[in-house]
Amino acid sequence: MPGVAELVVEGGHPLRGTVGVLGAKNAALKEMAAALLAPGRYVLTNVPRILDVELMIDVLEHIGARCHFEDHRLQIVVPDELNPEAPIDLVRKMRASIVVLGPLLARCGEARVALPGGDDLGARPIDMHLDGLERMGATFELVHGVLVGRAGDGLRGAEVELPFPSVGATENLLLAGSLAKGETVIVNAAREPEIVDLAAMLTSMGAAVEGAGTAIVRVTGSPGLQATTHRVVPDRIEAGTYAIAGAITAGDVTVTGCHPEHLRMELAKLEAAGAVVDRGDGWLRVRGPDRPRPVDFATLPYPGFHTDLQPPMVALLSVADGTSVVTENLYDARFRYVGELARMGADIVTEWQHAVIRGVERLSGCPVLAPDIRAGAALVLAGLRAEGITAVTGVQHIDRGYEDLEGKIRSLGGRIERRDAPGDGPGSRD
Ligand code: EPU
Repeated sequence: MPGVAELVVEGGHPLRGTVGVLGAKNAALKEMAAALLAPGRYVLTNVPRILDVELMIDVLEHIGARCHFEDHRLQIVVPDELNPEAPIDLVRKMRASIVVLGPLLARCGEARVALPGGDDLGARPIDMHLDGLERMGATFELVHGVLVGRAGDGLRGAEVELPFPSVGATENLLLAGSLAKGETVIVNAAREPEIVDLAAMLTSMGAAVEGAGTAIVRVTGSPGLQATTHRVVPDRIEAGTYAIAGAITAGDVTVTGCHPEHLRMELAKLEAAGAVVDRGDGWLRVRGPDRPRPVDFATLPYPGFHTDLQPPMVALLSVADGTSVVTENLYDARFRYVGELARMGADIVTEWQHAVIRGVERLSGCPVLAPDIRAGAALVLAGLRAEGITAVTGVQHIDRGYEDLEGKIRSLGGRIERRDAPGDGPGSRD
C-alpha cells in the first residue's frame, strides 16, 4: 500500500470507456467481523484491496485469526480460542473496528474495544450499539478509554428499537443476535444493501435472519454457526463515484460489476442534472451533460441519497448552470471539504447542514487536501473537470476506500498520476 502521496490530475479530458467495481468496503469489513462468530475457515471473494481491509485484517489477527489475502480473495481461519480485544492503535486507524464488539461479546462473553471517539465527519457516538447490546444482557464499563463489555451468562435475544436507522448499530446487533439465545428483533433497522449482504452471509453460516432490507429485522441465534464462503456485494459508492466522474467530465462511462438498483436515488439525481443514464443487469452507463443543471437533494438513510456520494455530487453541481441546495442529514461535519472546492473556484456557502452551491462556469486546478475518503474522491473528480493541474494530498484517505482510483481513471482516458508528496498528516477514522 503506498505511503504519503499526492494525486496529480490534469483536467479537461472527458472519461470514456468501461470500468469495473469490486465488493463494497462497508460490507466486506462487517463480513470479516462476522467470521469471529464461529471457528473455521472462511473465504470472502470480491474483496477490494484497500487500506481499510488491511486494517481489519490487523484487527482480526490481533484477535487470533489468520488471514491470507490474494486476488481479491480473503481467507480467514478463526481458532477456537479468541483474544477478545481491539486496542486503540487499531481502532483509531479505523472506526469500523467497533463492529467486532457484538461478535466478541456473543462468542466470548466479553470484549475490550477501545472507544472510537469522533472523527473527521463529526462526533459519531455509538450509544445505539451499546443500548442495544445492553438490552441483550451485556454490561459496559469505560476503563481508561477502553470499553469493557461483559455478557457472562451469554447474550439473549431482545427487542431493540433504534432511535435512528444506524448502519453500524444494526450490524452489531444482527451479528450479536446470530449467536444469542432466542430471537432478536431490530426495529427501525437500517435497510442498506450491505446489511442485506451481511444477513445473507449469516444465513449461510446457519443463522435464521428475516426481514433484512426492511425496517424490522429478526434473527434467531444458533449455537451451531459454521464457517462459510461468501461473495461481497458490489460497492455502490465506488460505482456511483465513477458514474459521477462520467458526468462531471461530460464523458461516457460504463460501470460494470455493479447493482444499479442500489443507486436509484443517486442515478435519478444525475439524470435531473442532465446526464443520460442507461442501466441493465450488472451495469450502468452515464453520459455527461456539457454543463450540469442545478439539483437539490438531501442525504438520507437508504434508499435515500447516500451521504457518501454527497461530496462527489456537490463537485458536479459546483459547475452547474444555476444554484443547488444540498442538505446533509447524516453527519454534522461532512461539508468540511467545501473550502477546498472553493480554492478551485467553486461558490459554495454552508449553514449548519445546508450547502448553497452557486454553479460556476469553470474550476481551476490548485493544490487541495482531502479530509476524508469521499471528499478525496470528490476533489479528484473536481480536478478532472478543472482547468490545469490539481494536486490532491491526503491520498491515504482515498486509499482507505478505493482500490487503484487513479489506475481506473487512467483506463478511462483521464490524466492522473500518483507522486510522492511531503507529509500530510494522520489518517481519519470513517
Ligand atoms: N449515530 C449515533 N449513535 C450511534 C450510531 C450512529 O448517534 O450509536 C449517528 C452517527 O453519529 C451518524 C449517524 O448516526 O451521524 C449515522 O451513523 P451510522 O451508524 O448509520 O453510520 P456508520 O455505521 O458509522 C456507515 C459507513 C459510512 C456511511 C454510514 C451511513 C461503514 C464502515 N461506514 O457508518 O461510510 O457514511 O454508514 O451510510 O460501514 C465511508 O465509507 O466513507 C463511510 C463514512
